Amino acid sequence: MSTNPTIAAVPSDDNRVRIFDTTLRDGEQSPGASMNMAEKLEMARALAALGVDIIEAGFPIASVGDFEAVRAIATEVSGSSVCALARCNDRDIDRAWEAIQYAQSPRIHVFLATSAIHREHKLRMTREQIVERAVQGVRRAKGVCADVEFSPEDAARTELDFLCEVVEAAIEAGATTVNIPDTVGYATPLQYAHVIQTLRERVPNIGRAIISTHCHDDLGMAVANSLAGCEAGARQVECTINGIGERAGNAALEEVVMALKTRFDHYGLTTRIKTERLYPISRMLSTITGLAIQRNKAIVGRNAFAHESGIHQDGMLKERSTYEIMRPEDVGVPRTDLVLGKHSGRHALRERVAEMGYTLTDEQIETLFLDFKALADKKKEVYDDDLVVLIEKYLEDAPAHWQLLSMHTSAGMGVLPTATVAIRRPDGEVVQDAAIGDGPVDAIFKAVERVTGVRANLREFVVRSVSQGKDAQGEVTLELEVESEDRSYRGRAASTDIIEASAQAYLNAVNAIATHKERGHVREVVGRPGAGA
Ligand code: KIV
Ligand code: ZN
Repeated sequence: MSTNPTIAAVPSDDNRVRIFDTTLRDGEQSPGASMNMAEKLEMARALAALGVDIIEAGFPIASVGDFEAVRAIATEVSGSSVCALARCNDRDIDRAWEAIQYAQSPRIHVFLATSAIHREHKLRMTREQIVERAVQGVRRAKGVCADVEFSPEDAARTELDFLCEVVEAAIEAGATTVNIPDTVGYATPLQYAHVIQTLRERVPNIGRAIISTHCHDDLGMAVANSLAGCEAGARQVECTINGIGERAGNAALEEVVMALKTRFDHYGLTTRIKTERLYPISRMLSTITGLAIQRNKAIVGRNAFAHESGIHQDGMLKERSTYEIMRPEDVGVPRTDLVLGKHSGRHALRERVAEMGYTLTDEQIETLFLDFKALADKKKEVYDDDLVVLIEKYLEDAPAHWQLLSMHTSAGMGVLPTATVAIRRPDGEVVQDAAIGDGPVDAIFKAVERVTGVRANLREFVVRSVSQGKDAQGEVTLELEVESEDRSYRGRAASTDIIEASAQAYLNAVNAIATHKERGHVREVVGRPGAGA
């Protein structure tokens, strides 16, 4: 199986790698990637349809919002196990179980740091205390849930003898998966493989658990390390769509899966993933979070299957395999971006929406059809991305508190930019106000701030064309940071008028702040795994 002479071949006949997706937990906890409940549910449904074995839905103790999202996913999504994260203490574990108890196949994931750096500086605990706490945590979880995963956080920097001791104790206490995190992305492939191999050789009860990889990408080696872990005997990989996650991110699911599939000759390992769903789900996540996909990103980047050089194009025309190791259709890259036109019907629209990975109800398809027709009247050609903008409104999980009724700006060379807005307040009253600014966009943001009274710093402001052509809609994505909360909120809107899109995006972010406050979703300061928790 393995052609690497330094790593022993896997003796077991288990050649299936379980894909554990942590986009909604490790991915979502990274800056700029937060999602609302409806967005998380849509992603979770798409992950289940993709065929991931386990969905890590969140960290329920972290906030009421996290708890509710995990609970909703556990009750509504089927086809994958649903997992909740907890530290090794009773409160965390009970809350995690409360959130996932109704899942078809629930899993509790408990973690505790084991490396000397974490033991001494963060936890101030001895080795003995760590083992004891890990065992207590696993036992508590096992008392309610048959499927328990244990992670020794910062495992890749933990002394190997101690790591073996903790892992053995966790399995003895009932863990059925032992995950080996490279929390800070420090490992190299051979070293990481050696850790997995050592566990297999030295931990007497290791055969009772599945070994899992969990690699961060600080040195750009998360995928390589995960694959090396599989070669050494790991049979679960923890990863995220587009590789989002703490700092530089986690191992990218699409890269791990396609490496295993394309190089089956080398790895001899399979997954349950329906690879033709990789591209749609990657786009969906990017749209939901506003985190753009690097153009040359492997598998799902816009250039991943583009051949520019004449020599390459010539080779491709003669025989595709000269320069193509995977077919675009295998990862679901659409043959054409052009979706529909003015004369397209409901059926075509419904099919396209499903191909893009969204699950809309019949009622939603009906209203989407009306919006689509209105847009098709304005624009000759409606592209996938135009459609995504229309679909997004179904992923809003709360009625808008503040509603933009009208706006006007005046700007130009040598004049003072001014803006007026009319906004309906949450109590129904319509308020008008005006402001001046450095430019029309600044003026309109100030006017919105005057009406809503919500003070926040603008951290990011991006305008891009949604699709092709001069008549394309402009999409504005922005991030507002509320200093007192140390948290940022995203707003996005599209229109053929980019000033209007800016005003609407700003107000959407203000509405997100209001919804968050209303629900009391303030994250408890529990620290974040991988960020010094
Ligand atoms: O990176 C990490 O150590 C984690 C653990 C909670 C698995 O995310
Ligand atoms: Zn992590």
